[in-house]
Amino acid sequence: MTGGYTIAHQRSLQEPEQFWAEAAQEIEWASPWSRVLDDSRKPFYRWFPDAELNTCHNMIDRHVEGGRADQAALIYDSPVTNTVRTYTYRQLRDETARFAAALAKLGVGKGDRVILYMPMVPEAVIAMLACARIGAVHSVVFGGFAANELATRIDDCHPKVIVSASCGIEVAKIIPYKPLLDHAIELAQHKPAHCVILQRTQHLAELTRPRDLDWYEAQIGVAPHPCVNVKATDPLYILYTSGTTGQPKGVVRDNGGHAVALKWTMSNVYDVEPGEVYWAASDVGWVVGHSYIVYAPLLHGCTTVLYEGKPVGTPDAGAFWRVIQQHKVAVLFTAPTAFRAIKRDDPDGRLIRDYDISSMRALFLAGERSDPATLEWAEHHLKVPVIDHWWQTETGWPIASNCLGLERLPVKHGSPTKAVPGWDVQVLDGDGEEVAPGDIGNIVCALPLPPGTLPTLWNAEERFFKSYLERYPGYYLTADAGYRDEEGYLYIMSRTDDIINVAGHRLSTGAMEEVLARHPDVAECAVIGVADDLKGQVPLGFLVLKAGVAKAHDKIVSEVVHLVREQIGPVAAFKAATVVKRLPKTRSGKILRGTMQKIADSVEYKMPATIDDPAILDEIGDALRQIGYAR
Ligand code: COA
Ligand code: AMP
Repeated sequence: MTGGYTIAHQRSLQEPEQFWAEAAQEIEWASPWSRVLDDSRKPFYRWFPDAELNTCHNMIDRHVEGGRADQAALIYDSPVTNTVRTYTYRQLRDETARFAAALAKLGVGKGDRVILYMPMVPEAVIAMLACARIGAVHSVVFGGFAANELATRIDDCHPKVIVSASCGIEVAKIIPYKPLLDHAIELAQHKPAHCVILQRTQHLAELTRPRDLDWYEAQIGVAPHPCVNVKATDPLYILYTSGTTGQPKGVVRDNGGHAVALKWTMSNVYDVEPGEVYWAASDVGWVVGHSYIVYAPLLHGCTTVLYEGKPVGTPDAGAFWRVIQQHKVAVLFTAPTAFRAIKRDDPDGRLIRDYDISSMRALFLAGERSDPATLEWAEHHLKVPVIDHWWQTETGWPIASNCLGLERLPVKHGSPTKAVPGWDVQVLDGDGEEVAPGDIGNIVCALPLPPGTLPTLWNAEERFFKSYLERYPGYYLTADAGYRDEEGYLYIMSRTDDIINVAGHRLSTGAMEEVLARHPDVAECAVIGVADDLKGQVPLGFLVLKAGVAKAHDKIVSEVVHLVREQIGPVAAFKAATVVKRLPKTRSGKILRGTMQKIADSVEYKMPATIDDPAILDEIGDALRQIGYAR
């Protein structure tokens, strides 16, 4: 509909309570709200404050009762184990109700936390749903994080139970999870009462009795657990994401606003009908996996695909097309990096021709900026709209997108289009004034944020305030910089903090610096993100050694590489570092990371006016050339 987007967007900002109350009609509530928005404690807002519901009921039981019992709810497609398994809504309800009962038998109740450290198996989704069913709060930790990261999360959210599996499978590599889990529990101050372990046949874990139980054993003799009603404002999950220090931020998601917003996006942003197949090729450990593998497609009555494989190598760059053909996927959502990997292995898109992908109506990309070359490649070969859309762990759903269900706006390469209804996005200068179209500034969103966005950080309201709300009163600071053009299209250019984006994964260079600084020979260090053809960015370390260190530099470099892998995890993809005599700094002592990044990427840079000693930049350039950068 022409104008459909503008009308919806204006209405959402002019009458937010009516707009979201209407969207909330799509959800089944156990008891309705008397107020839509609680703004009595500004700048902290709560949506549907006194309503009650159960998210799991809205995702499965409701559909079973409403005629979708025999429809596929979840298709597990795992090229790494050669498995395709379908769960109908009824089967998913039954498995979830049993596992919910198993958790309850282990003492987990409303408000208790459960950590899930799981590969991409259906049991990961079942465990998430089971927590939602009994009002427990899950916190999924991505499998590519190391024991130390898991320990930090255990100590922050104090889980009663941890659910894990014996192994993950990365293409052909088996990764035993249990030693990582055991080590994390050893490192953590808080000890979970129990661990429930899914034994996979590819590798069996040794259980530590009586703490550990097998997944199936935990369910012996239990009766299916009903859905427990919770307040709309009660937490559904905590998802940790990189912040500016080694301490990750525990993003909290509520139940009510989340269900309302996610359900709304399925028809209005993605233009998907209940009953259609929706595939987010991501991981349940990331926000995309939470929102668009698990929550939104099931809230909407779709069939979701859980894919345990990669875009390439499982077995080749035709993997995505095979899945689309086999399961008749209507909408695919993934990160641009996946398409860069496919394009690298199959530049002419020959493998696409081997499959019938006519079921696919649109491709959505997020997680990092979609580079125009990748976007054009996808448009050319897939012949469907390719939609770049922008969002963050904190927001849980897109801030900017081409909302296909409202109106298909013209695509501008490099832009995730315009603010989605619910979002009042502005670009501000350092003084809080709106900048002119085309000028880069800090991207902020006026408060209150729409439903489904983070109400706070777990046990850290002060940090929530300081990180997001303090800088510009009345606004949420996205920590992304960019601009808006004359027509209101947004362009998201870079982060304003230390976050880098590695293969669509969000990582903190500050956290990596904390690890490097712990090496006994390192006096000072810096980590920057450098451009990478496949992953978008990869981290690169600079090390200044302590006086008198005689050890070979390559040995120190390989030790710090190992340290980051061990402390943060393989997902950091920290593989390169160089030893330098000094780091370039401002006269007040701030390391000039941005300038180092430009030198490494061979991008023109202005000599910073505040630099202490410009000669250091030549030394940095020389060191970088020796390891293949700064050409
Ligand atoms: N458990 C254990 N280890 C994991 C893991 C998991 N769940 N996920 C990744 N790793 C490991 C990998 O094995 C790899 O280890 P290595 O250094 O020993 O090779 C490392 O972490 C980096 O993994 P990854 O980022 O996946 O890079 P890759 O080089 O293996 O593959 C891509 C590159 C582009 C194919 C891959 O990143 C990809 O498929 N990305 C899709 C995008 C995506 O899912 N984004 C999420 C947000 S939408
Ligand atoms: P995450 O919290 O892992 O989803 O990462 C969020 C960050 O990824 C954002 O703050 C952006 O920096 C970046 N990002 C996500 N999607 C896009 C996009 N479409 N365009 C540009 N950057 C993006």
